[in-house]
Amino acid sequence: MIYLDNAATTWPKPACVAQTMTDYALNVGASPGRASHRLSLAASRVVYDTREALGRLFGVSDPLRIVFTANGTEALNLVAMGYLNSGDHVVTTSVEHNALMRPLRHLESLGVRLTIVPCGVDGTLDPAAVEQALRPNTVLLAINHASNVVGTVLPIAQIGAIARMRGILMLVDSAQTAGAYPIDMAAMGIDLLAFTGHKGLFGPQGTGGLCLGERVDVERLRPLKRGGTGSNSESEEQPSFLPDKYEAGTLNAVGIAGLGAGARYVLEQGVSRIRRHEEELTACLLSGLRAIPGLQLYGTGDASLQVATVSFNVTDIQPSEVAERLDEEHGVLCRAGLHCAPAAHRTIGTYPRGSVRFGLSYLNTLEQVDAAVEAVRSVASER
Ligand SMILES: Cc1ncc(COP(=O)(O)O)c(C=O)c1O
Repeated sequence: MIYLDNAATTWPKPACVAQTMTDYALNVGASPGRASHRLSLAASRVVYDTREALGRLFGVSDPLRIVFTANGTEALNLVAMGYLNSGDHVVTTSVEHNALMRPLRHLESLGVRLTIVPCGVDGTLDPAAVEQALRPNTVLLAINHASNVVGTVLPIAQIGAIARMRGILMLVDSAQTAGAYPIDMAAMGIDLLAFTGHKGLFGPQGTGGLCLGERVDVERLRPLKRGGTGSNSESEEQPSFLPDKYEAGTLNAVGIAGLGAGARYVLEQGVSRIRRHEEELTACLLSGLRAIPGLQLYGTGDASLQVATVSFNVTDIQPSEVAERLDEEHGVLCRAGLHCAPAAHRTIGTYPRGSVRFGLSYLNTLEQVDAAVEAVRSVASER
């Protein structure tokens, strides 16, 4: 079996992730931040260590400015719902995942003004087009770091510089890049970094979070939910300090333990090494697919301009049938359809048909990529 659905969730994970979670479940298990007994303190330490590892990865010097959420979607919702008010203007792109697009569309129905800057057919974005979309009431730029359909990396640092110059906050959806592509919040001008734990960071599902840059006014950003935090328990008001303001309810501590192991694994391997390997796999996949007759490849076609997520179609066969045959006849597991990003498919011209998506991970090999290309060639030859 060759698992190529890593753009949805990476699998397998490095062995240390399951080991750390098992160790947590067997030997720690208590609620972090809720009591002063030894197991609760050990749980708090595990959670803090994960914040600290993520801080090293993203260039966040204060680990308390990293808040945990249930997934990337919740982190994006936190910013959309917590920062935008009726009459505010927000700028986004035409390759966003529904994790961002749906909250923005909902807010639009409540009076938030929304501009969607069109990306090119290959998923590229012109920073000048973003600048032209700004208005006096623009308060937020909300931008995908890399498309989950074609993998194209967007020019975050250039857009971040524009945001800084204009005094606007920039939210980045790093679901497809965190752990797999270098991210330095300060250097790239990122104010709010939404990340998911279960993809390139190799954590389990049910993990994610939001990093709050120095320019973010925590007074202004409302929490998505309110409730117990184990702090200020005499008060019926949500604490105003970090991270408790945004972390109501018991955390997914066993998941956060696994996420910490995943993040430390990424730090040990080094993001640049991970990136090099994924770029090599992607280049090999692109050139293999390109040589198959009757196959349409989407995106820039240049591995250096994208993450390891590749979309294609086989002429005259529905994407779902291609994926089914790849699984049943060749043991290649991938994903077909719209990948929760209809706007991205409209952008690349594959709406409503969708595409077949191969998502590679650091733990895939060149041999697996070669075998997957041969499997596609076989399916395409039996059209
Ligand atoms: C670009 C992008 N944004 C957001 C998300 C949502 O992340 P999560 O599954 O952690 O909610 C995904 C997941 O597929 C994604 O690919």
